[in-house]
Amino acid sequence: MSQSLSQRYHDYVGELFAREDATLRYVRQQTAVRGLPQISLEPNEAKLLQLLVRLSGAVRVVEVGTLAGYSGICIARALPEQGQLITIEVSSVHAEVARAHFEYAGLANKVKVLQGAGLQVLPSLAKDAPYDLMFIDADKGNYHNYLAWAADNLRVGGAVVADNAFWGGRIFDPKTEDDQAMVAFNRTLADHPQFDSAIIEVGDGIALGVKTS
Ligand SMILES: C[S@@+](CC[C@H](N)C(=O)[O-])C[C@H]1O[C@@H](n2cnc3c(N)ncnc32)[C@H](O)[C@@H]1O
Repeated sequence: MSQSLSQRYHDYVGELFAREDATLRYVRQQTAVRGLPQISLEPNEAKLLQLLVRLSGAVRVVEVGTLAGYSGICIARALPEQGQLITIEVSSVHAEVARAHFEYAGLANKVKVLQGAGLQVLPSLAKDAPYDLMFIDADKGNYHNYLAWAADNLRVGGAVVADNAFWGGRIFDPKTEDDQAMVAFNRTLADHPQFDSAIIEVGDGIALGVKTS
């Protein structure tokens, strides 16, 4: 597919199905204004994530990598009334901005922001397993550890979703440790005996695994 045709498909889908509402526009704007990295999901990816949450019937979701709460808002919007998103963020500044954004979006009752490193926080969540869906969007070097946690703590039929599966194309010519980590993560997910999986070609690649056993 030519570059320009794939770009047209992307724009077509975005304009029809993934237009940001005022809240998401505000959150994206504030992410820049507050000086946070502008690496939230792009609208097409965020819409897909929202649909995956709905499709899986998820009630309890864990996210690693909150940033300013953009993806978290999309997840929480797809949860039922009694649903809950637990989102883990290592940066206290990001966690504070995200809390304000969940409040602004009217979703504070559904979202718990836990400040800390994913690997430190996740063990404390295991006692309340199983969860329905896990979204991974944080430090690349630990993606394999987050996947192992998902294998242990998701229900059968639950899903693990991870952003940056294409890692900006660096999976084809890995040089850094993070590049290698993404190559290894994709390979592990593809071969994982407990997940039926694929990468959805949207944005930077959304890896999806449904837990089968
Ligand atoms: C790509 S951003 C997340 C974007 C967010 N999911 C969205 O789309 O709105 C990655 C976030 O992960 C956080 N992070 C990095 N290492 C982490 C770790 N070990 N544990 C938890 N969060 C981490 C970063 O501080 C950053 O806010």
